[in-house]
Amino acid sequence: MEKPLFVVLGLLLLAPARPEPVTGAVIGLLAVAGGGYFTWKSLSPRNECNEKGRLDIKALQADLENRVFGQHLAKGITLRGLSGFLRNKNPRKALAMSFHGSTGTGKNYISQIIAQHLYPDGMKSRYVHQFVATLHFPHIQHLDTYKDQLQQWIRRNVTDCKRSVFIFDEVDKMHPGLIDAIKPYLDYYEHIGGVDYRKAIFIFLSNTAGEVISKLALDFWKAGKVREDIKLSDVEHQLSLSAFNKNNSGFWHSSLIDRHLIDLYVPFLPLEQQHVKMCIKREIMDRGIIVDVELISKVANDMTYYPKDEKVFSVKGCKVVSTKLNLYLLPTIMDRPRNLNIFSGFFNFVSWVFWGICSSISNFFHFVFWAIFSLFLNIFYIISWVFWGICSSISNFFNFVFWAISSLFLNIFYIISWVFWGICSSISNFFNLVF
Ligand SMILES: Nc1ncnc2c1ncn2[C@@H]1O[C@H](COP(=O)(O)OP(=O)(O)OP(=O)(O)O)[C@@H](O)[C@H]1O
Ligand SMILES: *[C@@H]1O[C@H](CO)[C@@H](O)[C@H](O)[C@H]1NC(C)=O
Ligand SMILES: *[C@@H]1O[C@H](CO)[C@@H](O)[C@H](O)[C@H]1NC(C)=O
Ligand SMILES: [Mg+2]
Repeated sequence: MEKPLFVVLGLLLLAPARPEPVTGAVIGLLAVAGGGYFTWKSLSPRNECNEKGRLDIKALQADLENRVFGQHLAKGITLRGLSGFLRNKNPRKALAMSFHGSTGTGKNYISQIIAQHLYPDGMKSRYVHQFVATLHFPHIQHLDTYKDQLQQWIRRNVTDCKRSVFIFDEVDKMHPGLIDAIKPYLDYYEHIGGVDYRKAIFIFLSNTAGEVISKLALDFWKAGKVREDIKLSDVEHQLSLSAFNKNNSGFWHSSLIDRHLIDLYVPFLPLEQQHVKMCIKREIMDRGIIVDVELISKVANDMTYYPKDEKVFSVKGCKVVSTKLNLYLLPTIMDRPRNLNIFSGFFNFVSWVFWGICSSISNFFHFVFWAIFSLFLNIFYIISWVFWGICSSISNFFNFVFWAISSLFLNIFYIISWVFWGICSSISNFFNLVF
């Protein structure tokens, strides 16, 4: 949105201050029209429904590669599932993905990244909806109200935008009745009540089967096998065997499973210390602090790992990395208060910041003034030319009318005078002749 605006401003700036009238008028007109168009554009909603399912798969892949660690299965499955679904112009049902894994392994994180690649505003977009069971549907006694409300939300939102994204967090804590309420939208119906739900994307997040997945990963580790060799088939087998048949953990989607309404089961593996370290490193880099290997090890060692003896997997995944990092960063600044280098560096920094702020403000005003000035100049040129055009055409019109009328009258007088002259001279000649 900003780019075209700069083009318009640039045009105005390039326009010579006292341009040749026609060029000036053209540039001015272009600038005014362009400015109006982009103002209108920026006032209308920025984020449009991505009904066509445009998604830069390469960029999504790169983002997943760079930011999500230790989840080769989850990355691969979501990427392939999503690109296949979006490529299909007429999907037979909505995409339903179910993310499983223990805490802090990146379930919310990957769904956020997906949302961001579908809609630039990410989770804040009006086409991405997140429901948290314990937050949105806390009281069992209101179940019927929740059901109606949820169905209404989904129906209205999909009517508004077919490519809506719905993320259900903590599905394992969601009442089975609520799951039943959304079942129809995941099914193979062409439309329900005139609304087509087949382009929507549903993502379910839960800790269901987290233990099973962790055990599998641990078995691999114990057997000395590479983690990246864990295949989906290994996990799927385990998932279908135990997790979903248990009352407390998997009950919620037994009905979804029976009807094959979930398209993809996405296992999230427990994270090892090396992955936790990567999370810490990325967090440090995101904050713009110099990466310090010692600091990374300190924070990583402060996390708890299981099982008790081997200490392979992080209990909380990467979840508390950012808070833990805060604890370690705070003392390092407080430890060295007398270090003058820090103060001089600080003053230097402050002075640079001020210089930056001041010079950018001054440049900004300079620029704004210049832009406004040349905009006004060009507008005046346009107005003056328009007036000149109008005035000169009015004057020419009257000139013409006057000339036409006067020459008409003149001619009429000529004719009359000639007629009289003719009549008179012929009468006179007649009498002359008679006489
Ligand atoms: N695999 C990962 N790679 C990189 N960062 C991760 C990974 N997993 C978690 N994180 C970091 O940890 C934070 C918390 O993760 P997230 O909220 O996705 O966990 P979760 O799987 O949803 O856990 P829970 O089941 O407790 O909700 C993320 O914001 C992210 O910064
Ligand atoms: C869409 O869903 C949200 C919940 O995420 C809800 O608040 C909103 O009212 C819904 N929109 C419509 C038009 O119903
Ligand atoms: C599952 O729950 C039902 C009641 O909802 C109960 O009768 C049954 O014993 C439970 N089964 C298990 C394995 O807990
Ligand atoms: Mg979560």
